[in-house]
Amino acid sequence: MDALSAQDRAKKAVGIAAVERYVRPGMLLGLGSGTTSHWFVRALADKVADGLEVRGVPTSNATKDLALELGVPLVGFDEIDRLELVVDGPDEVDHDGHMIKGGGACLLWERIVADAADCYVVVADTSKLKDRLGAFPLPIEVIQHGWESTSRSIGRLLQHHGYPAGVDLVRRVDQAGEVVITDSGNFIVDAHLKEIDDPLVLDRELNWIPGVVENGLFTGLADEVIFCDPSGEVSIMSCEHAPAGRPTTTPHGLRLTSP
Ligand code: 5RP
Repeated sequence: MDALSAQDRAKKAVGIAAVERYVRPGMLLGLGSGTTSHWFVRALADKVADGLEVRGVPTSNATKDLALELGVPLVGFDEIDRLELVVDGPDEVDHDGHMIKGGGACLLWERIVADAADCYVVVADTSKLKDRLGAFPLPIEVIQHGWESTSRSIGRLLQHHGYPAGVDLVRRVDQAGEVVITDSGNFIVDAHLKEIDDPLVLDRELNWIPGVVENGLFTGLADEVIFCDPSGEVSIMSCEHAPAGRPTTTPHGLRLTSP
């Protein structure tokens, strides 16, 4: 009997489907973090075991450990420049492919890897698709020094954009009550916004605040989202006509033409 929940079966199905649809021999890949992305890494490992030659850059120590355990060859940005394909999962994704990420506290490395992507594919079960982002608290990675002040600055920025003065900004702790420290040694402050009207503006402006290293709004990055619903049906959403995200030096627009 399959012990996976329907949601986990959907996550596994998109991981497998993403390998089949996008991965080609010789590719340099960005390997996402979280349970959905880890199904992609497992499906990739099966192909590697069958002789597929690819190399991957992990977006977290957890993904690095999984890839090493399963025999997926890794590479670093000291050796390579761009990634032909990055596959990663969201906490929420809207109909333009804008996302909230960082539920696993890996947003900084995920964003660095995303910035090197020629093609960025999101893998998600359909529960992640939202008309509007924000029910999932927005993770913001801040350096430890002065984090209380940084948090107050975040509150002022949010208020400036019309969010309530008392919006909950909570330094993340784990299930044991220990403060979460990211792979880069930073804290996560989760902003409980409930609804985000202006993801592109917030994505840009949160990063202006001294002490903010990165925020979990990933806007204008996705080329395609690959979904699976609880019945096992896989579908593709193109983000070709989505509004551009925050300004970056990365030349996006290299979208898939012949998947
Ligand atoms: C980690 C992330 C994850 O990709 C996100 O939390 C989705 O996780 P999952 O696939 O387990 O639902 O952003 O920082």
